[in-house]
Amino acid sequence: MTTVPPHVVLGVGGGIAAYKVCDVLRRLTESGHDVTVVPTAAALRFVGSATWEALSGRPVASDVFSTVPDVPHVRLGREADLVLVAPATADLLARAAAGLADDLLTATLLTARCPVLFAPAMHTEMWEHPATVANVGLLRSRGAVVVDPATGRLTGADSGPGRLPDPEHLVQVATALLRRGVVGDSPDLVGRRVVVSAGGTREPLDPVRFLGNRSSGRMGYALAVSAVARGATVSVVAANVSLPDPAGADVVRVGSTDELREAVLAAAAGADAVVMAAAPADFRPASASPHKIKKSPDGVAPPAVALEPTPDVLAELARTRVGKGAPLLVGFAAETGDDDGDVLTHARAKLSRKGCDLLVVNDVSAGRVFGRDDTEAVLLGADGTSTPVAATTKIALADVVWDAVVARLSGGTLHERP
Ligand code: CTP
Repeated sequence: MTTVPPHVVLGVGGGIAAYKVCDVLRRLTESGHDVTVVPTAAALRFVGSATWEALSGRPVASDVFSTVPDVPHVRLGREADLVLVAPATADLLARAAAGLADDLLTATLLTARCPVLFAPAMHTEMWEHPATVANVGLLRSRGAVVVDPATGRLTGADSGPGRLPDPEHLVQVATALLRRGVVGDSPDLVGRRVVVSAGGTREPLDPVRFLGNRSSGRMGYALAVSAVARGATVSVVAANVSLPDPAGADVVRVGSTDELREAVLAAAAGADAVVMAAAPADFRPASASPHKIKKSPDGVAPPAVALEPTPDVLAELARTRVGKGAPLLVGFAAETGDDDGDVLTHARAKLSRKGCDLLVVNDVSAGRVFGRDDTEAVLLGADGTSTPVAATTKIALADVVWDAVVARLSGGTLHERP
């Protein structure tokens, strides 16, 4: 049986970041997407038709009059599984928000009934201008996903928010959105603010050594990508993660459990949900030596390291939340069975000990899950529900976690995805 490749309309705006979109296009076509590029007239001044045609293998048009009998703006909008606009300039966002249809791309945006993803890139002043803020708000309220630009060096000497996210990470959000679009879901975290912790903390022993763990941060970053694709405002607290920042998320970097606690508690204020995918160390050296601990002279035993417990961030969030507006709390538990009980028995006890609403349980016997792209889990609810998730990618597990969060935030119950 042959499957039809997903069809993406890649709308390119007239900004210098158009050159990075060549890489977005290449990644989309190489991962099996059928892509039609629709540049604006201004975009063609940065990157010409020949480049888009060579990379997509399809002709490009930017106005509705080039192939009139084909009615391209209607056909493209109807056939698209996703419209990705990158870079979305301030002008393009304004025209899309106003519902103008003065070129092929804006006309296509009006006929498209599939998910629409805007990746803005512009100078910081333009991004922060009230007109752009209002246009972005309007597009989001209509169900479009607008990825916040990255912060960094812009054209010329200035830097600030306004950079197009890294092409690889933009494609991650696009494919996450495309997958959900294919199953008929719309962005369901629009207007929600969520916090995700990721990675593993390091507790210093001396200036060069630490106690740490093997968490890579991949699960937390997959949660961030999925939440961005579902329209959420996403804060990531990343503990020693060496992966590049996920597109569209605000990332705060931390080292120790104390730093993680401070950053998570600050971000959790006013958030709708906090997902603790990080692995904070449970113990830390009771005192960190200000000097490198030297090897003992021959025959003398090395110094014993006294440990003390670290603060339990998730339990503190649960203990201190008050009122209806308090965030929904999701924990992760990497468990192994032992003489005292199997994985799920330990996990149920942990769920009630921590006081969170959901616990995502990974069986890590024999080194499973850590550092890998795939995972399997059971989602336990404080209400007694239990949802097994068969071996799948971390991004697909992230979707299931957000499904459960959305169901609870909107007062529903946990449900399984098909
Ligand atoms: N967690 C936390 N603060 C800690 C330790 C863990 O917030 N100091 C969070 C983790 O981010 C995770 C959940 O608690 O979401 C469960 O972590 P886990 O290490 O399994 O829990 P522990 O209470 O440390 O239990 P165990 O003794 O099994 O390690």
